[in-house]
Amino acid sequence: MQGVHIIGTGSYVPKRVLTNFDLEQMIDTSDEWILSRTGIRERCLADKDEAASDMAYQASLVALDDAKVPPGEVDLLVVATVTPDTPFPSTACHLQRHLGASRAAAFDVGAACTGFVYGLSVAEQYLRTGRYRTILVVGVEVLSRIVDWTDRNTCILFGDGAGAAVLQASEDTSRGLLATFLHADGGMADHLIMYGGGSRHPISEEVLHRRLHFLRMRGNETFKIAVRTMIKASLEALDQHGYRVEDVDLFIPHQANGRIVEAVSKRLGIPDEKVFVNIERYGNTSAASIPIALDEALRSGRVKEGDLVLLIGVGAGLTWGSALFRW
Ligand code: UT7
Repeated sequence: MQGVHIIGTGSYVPKRVLTNFDLEQMIDTSDEWILSRTGIRERCLADKDEAASDMAYQASLVALDDAKVPPGEVDLLVVATVTPDTPFPSTACHLQRHLGASRAAAFDVGAACTGFVYGLSVAEQYLRTGRYRTILVVGVEVLSRIVDWTDRNTCILFGDGAGAAVLQASEDTSRGLLATFLHADGGMADHLIMYGGGSRHPISEEVLHRRLHFLRMRGNETFKIAVRTMIKASLEALDQHGYRVEDVDLFIPHQANGRIVEAVSKRLGIPDEKVFVNIERYGNTSAASIPIALDEALRSGRVKEGDLVLLIGVGAGLTWGSALFRW
């Protein structure tokens, strides 16, 4: 079996920033409420003509440059998103065209906020077995297109962005990706869902009238489940490798809500300095949140060679999972 290594990362967020004060002008809310309940101050929103593959392209260029890999050497493109450019073909195919990655196979994975961890796990299988050598995994979301901007329960939470990682197989199995763990519970599908636009409720006047083309979330229940599953996902990854919480140098959780991250850290006894948090600037960017955070953690020197790094995802589905690295 081959070792699997992240050899380059990149991220991109749109230029337009929407602050909590801007939201005060749009709906009945306040900066104080949003900040204290979520830890978010602002989020970035895509331009009208900016689609998922455009943002994925920007993040991918940076990641490929960081990895010193030309697009033509990529064997597989995996894009995690719930806001694709088009229902079909996949956003990965649109990205392949933008990049000119003509040799790469391309497909999307749909696991909502856990999408990047799912994408890493898919890539891991192809790399370990030697089927492919170089894989680009991207998490990208344009959630601003599916958020109901009149619903204060949800619109304050989400933002747009993209993050990418270049993974490569190598003989070195002592470092790199140690393991990924994936889970799902479809019994909780209604907790966070977009009902309209699929084969159950195809786009129609009725769907638009009932506002089914926007995401819906049962915030309170999702909050509690997110805390429980993130704890479970963290402990599973560590237990299986004989590590304890204190062995981890950096936790990079999905940036769902600052209070969720705080609750998980508190229950696991993780000190603040070992948890990467950037939700203040981006809000919850779903599949993009972990790769953006990972890219920022690496670029700001928060990860050193030899560090144990744990990525933890949870999201709609319900889905959850983790990826453990020895950097
Ligand atoms: O990405 C993974 C999945 N997503 C998540 O993990 C998100 C999980 N959930 C959450 O982050 C939180 O549940 C929210 C931030 C969405 C809501 O926070 P909360 O502390 O659970 O608030 P709540 O829903 O219990 O609402 C408390 C009060 C309500 O008023 P009443 O009924 O007590 O009078 C809401 O109507 O706050 C009100 N409220 C607001 N007030 C001002 C809800 N949204 C807002 C708002 N501004 N934007």
